[in-house]
Amino acid sequence: MSASSIKTIISSYSAQVDAQLESILPLASGPAEPLFAAMRYSVFNGGKRLRPALCFAAAEAICSSDSNTAKVAAALEMIHAYSLIHDDLPAMDDDDLRRGKPTCHIQFDEATAILAGDGLQSLAFQQLCGLSEVAPSIVVELISMLSRLGGCSGMVAGQAIDLAATGTALDLEQLKVMHAHKTGALIEASVLMGAVATAQASAQQLAALSEFARAIGLAFQIQDDILDVESSTELLGKQQGSDATNQKSTYTSILGLEQARSEADALYRRSMQALDCFADKAESLRAIASFIVQRRH
Ligand code: IPE
Ligand code: IPE
Ligand code: MG
Ligand code: MG
Ligand code: MG
Repeated sequence: MSASSIKTIISSYSAQVDAQLESILPLASGPAEPLFAAMRYSVFNGGKRLRPALCFAAAEAICSSDSNTAKVAAALEMIHAYSLIHDDLPAMDDDDLRRGKPTCHIQFDEATAILAGDGLQSLAFQQLCGLSEVAPSIVVELISMLSRLGGCSGMVAGQAIDLAATGTALDLEQLKVMHAHKTGALIEASVLMGAVATAQASAQQLAALSEFARAIGLAFQIQDDILDVESSTELLGKQQGSDATNQKSTYTSILGLEQARSEADALYRRSMQALDCFADKAESLRAIASFIVQRRH
């Protein structure tokens, strides 16, 4: 698939998730206005919407996406936006630039940024609770997946490992565990939740999607580490070299650029194999996976 058709697929999914996000993130007036403004600022500031795209594409690998898929995708993007607000805080990566604009705590203030993250997290779960066209058992399964993979058994644990490892050199196995949690877990949630929300996924299909997501999720963070070294602040919309400044353990700091690249390629190939059982139905997932390892920002 050509680079332009991949972009077309991702933007059609983005339009659907953005419409959903628009409907649940209203502008508020009154004393809590800065909170809502900060939540909107951090969601509508030009993210690539890759987690929603994976959610839609996984639904299509099973059967088709529908209005529930957009709601699940919106929940995933709100968790992602919250994780970035907190990741950029002075207590964590202390970054001033995100998606080409001042980070949330710079544009507003630290307290508002912390609360905006908290607000987005709870709104994500509220969104899932409001799913009306699927059985309650599916809603519970979705909430359980997002809390496990987005929380202290997944992304939040990964961020804690990242902070604990700052200034030290992890070995490759520890690095994989950190990346699988801080980034891989929410990517796995995106793929699995898109499939589960269709209520038609078999255990075998979910196992194949999980294998796909784990491989491409790790490749995603390796590419993020590579871009931190070889891209530019202008292209990335975030400070290039932030990992080195913060003495982070990354794939490039541990393995070097070349080996990091070949590791990302090997994971991409593994992710493709995992999709074989879906034949043509997984074309969009394949396209997004190839974008993930080829992206320049
Ligand atoms: C950046 O994720 C944070 C990581 C998990 C590495 P993305 O590269 O998907 O960020 P946006 O949403 O497109 O800005
Ligand atoms: C962030 O990883 C992962 C999460 C936000 C969970 P990074 O710290 O590498 O992300 P960037 O590079 O700031 O986007
Ligand atoms: Mg970080
Ligand atoms: Mg960061
Ligand atoms: Mg990074």
